[in-house]
Amino acid sequence: MRAVIQKSFGGPEVLEVAEVEKPQLLSGEVLVRVRASAVNPVDVAVRSGAFPLLGQPPFGVGWDISGVVEEVGPGARYEVGDEVYGMPFFPRAATGYAEYVATPSRQVARKPKSLSHVEAAALPLAVLTAWQGLVDRAGVKEGDRVLIHRAAGGVGHLAVQIAKARGAYVIALASAAKHDYVKSLGADEVIDYQAVDFTEVVRDVDIVFDSVADAENNLKVLKPGGVLVSILEHMKPEVAAAVNAAGRRFAGVSVEPDYAALEAISELVDAGKLRPTVANTLPLEEAGKAHDLVASGQTIGKVVLTVN
Ligand SMILES: NC(=O)c1ccc[n+]([C@@H]2O[C@H](COP(=O)([O-])OP(=O)(O)OC[C@H]3O[C@@H](n4cnc5c(N)ncnc54)[C@H](OP(=O)(O)O)[C@@H]3O)[C@@H](O)[C@H]2O)c1
Repeated sequence: MRAVIQKSFGGPEVLEVAEVEKPQLLSGEVLVRVRASAVNPVDVAVRSGAFPLLGQPPFGVGWDISGVVEEVGPGARYEVGDEVYGMPFFPRAATGYAEYVATPSRQVARKPKSLSHVEAAALPLAVLTAWQGLVDRAGVKEGDRVLIHRAAGGVGHLAVQIAKARGAYVIALASAAKHDYVKSLGADEVIDYQAVDFTEVVRDVDIVFDSVADAENNLKVLKPGGVLVSILEHMKPEVAAAVNAAGRRFAGVSVEPDYAALEAISELVDAGKLRPTVANTLPLEEAGKAHDLVASGQTIGKVVLTVN
């Protein structure tokens, strides 16, 4: 099968489309014919060696997939022809930018019926990060005041919609050019964090969704007892200790595969309450260009690779 692999750490040029062995099914696994695969910032950091999660190359990066079940291993969920999406194996290697991925069947869920494979592939890693933070860890509920950083980004644009779907009041931070977009997601207030110090204008927040590693400033706007969901400082016990000592609750998130949450997310999508934004779609052969786009840090929503 064709897969994007790398034989060394480096720039986007190290990504190459190669012929590799099609994965063999183990019990409890399904073989997915991948139709689309999304690019996440972690893929770029693993590729470059900045975050050597997978050890030394060679390996294939990429986790987010949407596709069609082609074979079903003994004891696995699903039938041939089912459409599924997920982020199998994260944070171990999945080689998601490929024609086929063999995955434990409980690490993928039925794709939302109302989405294409390109749109569904945009969801898993980003939406589960938002869900595991806001819903699982912080228990976001009706009337909560929620502050979301990077609201136009891959995780943020989904976090805004999940918080709104749960009845929260959403205060979003984004650069001025992205305000109309973020309002269209349902945010109640949008603040230009580049022009305004948010700690001067935001008060009494129940939950901060922190994707910028700024616990110190976020603590200033959190109510006593409020929750700081952190997706960048989750490996820093000293940050957790400082937040808890200040009478707020630290909830670090390291996203995990989760079919049950993805099923709930599929329902939300098919009910018209959640929709991913796909800003760019590129063929597998242009994985390097897709990495450049994500590495810019300026994309709205997601960048997705199509697999023919
Ligand atoms: N812990 C976990 O499990 C986990 C899971 C997923 C992601 N992450 C991490 O979370 C971060 C966000 O991921 P993502 O996929 O949402 O990223 P992304 O899609 O690349 O975010 C892009 C957005 O970030 C904003 N931005 C760029 N520089 C900024 C800055 N200095 N301050 C504030 N906003 C800035 C930009 O909007 P503006 O124009 O508004 O600045 C842009 O629209 C990444 O570092 C990623 O690795 C962690």
